[in-house]
Amino acid sequence: MMEVVALDAPLGARIEGLDRASANEPAVAAKLNRALAEHLLVVVPGDRMTPEQTRVFSAAFGRPQKQLLRYKRSGGVPDVSIMVSTLMADGTTDKTAIRAEDWHTDDSYFAVPAKATLLHGIEIPSHGGATWFCNMHSVYEALPEATRKRIDGLRAIHGYDTPRARNRPSARTPEEIAETPDVEHPLVRTHPETGRRALYLNPNRLDRIVGLERAESDDLLDELADEARKPRHHHGHVWSVGDIVVWDNRATMHRVVIDYPMGETRIMQRVLIEGDKPF
Ligand code: OGA
Ligand code: MN
Repeated sequence: MMEVVALDAPLGARIEGLDRASANEPAVAAKLNRALAEHLLVVVPGDRMTPEQTRVFSAAFGRPQKQLLRYKRSGGVPDVSIMVSTLMADGTTDKTAIRAEDWHTDDSYFAVPAKATLLHGIEIPSHGGATWFCNMHSVYEALPEATRKRIDGLRAIHGYDTPRARNRPSARTPEEIAETPDVEHPLVRTHPETGRRALYLNPNRLDRIVGLERAESDDLLDELADEARKPRHHHGHVWSVGDIVVWDNRATMHRVVIDYPMGETRIMQRVLIEGDKPF
């Protein structure tokens, strides 16, 4: 029988004894979703799967949603993307991997961002390339009370790119540009399943706070990000081939560390799960 084992970390649980083929049974899916809402990150060790098997498994968490960038979608199963982040001789990797080097939550440039992201390790470098996660409930709770009062009710503009981000994102086709106008989200959001509040930050996409002068907005966003950058809120996942990792984008940020050997392949399958409008 499946067991949820909390990690000794600020977030995360390991799912043990799960037959992945049973994930869509209602009682199993409900337990997986409860574990995700409570621990914000679930790790399901196991064997490598085909894109179609991954798509079916991911449906235990909700409806798979195609990702914006068409070129990453897997031909036969477009709900599953193939993410190649092999490090090249010139020090670059795929543009989206470079972008993922700083803390972010996925797809906050959409009015209705993804609830969760699933990554499935297909090829993993011999060392390095961990994915780090940040608990945004604990970040919110660690803020001084005066700051929590100040940001209560504030809204922020997220876009596909912002000069505040450290790296530039992949280029978009005209069709993809048309799908990504700037959007507004609350700076503090409530988790729809647990009712807990989380700081909804995204240093890669969050451009400014509505109603503040640019300098004031930049200072406040930097101050909030400083709390999120503290290691006390973090846990790193060290990948094994076949791992499935699912994180809750509503109350976490994540980043990849590009410290793996040059030329060693790093390939993940990826599925986004449809979410709700943040409130
Ligand atoms: C992502 C992402 C990090 C990684 O797929 O959204 O940020 O470790 N990936 O590949
Ligand atoms: Mn990401």
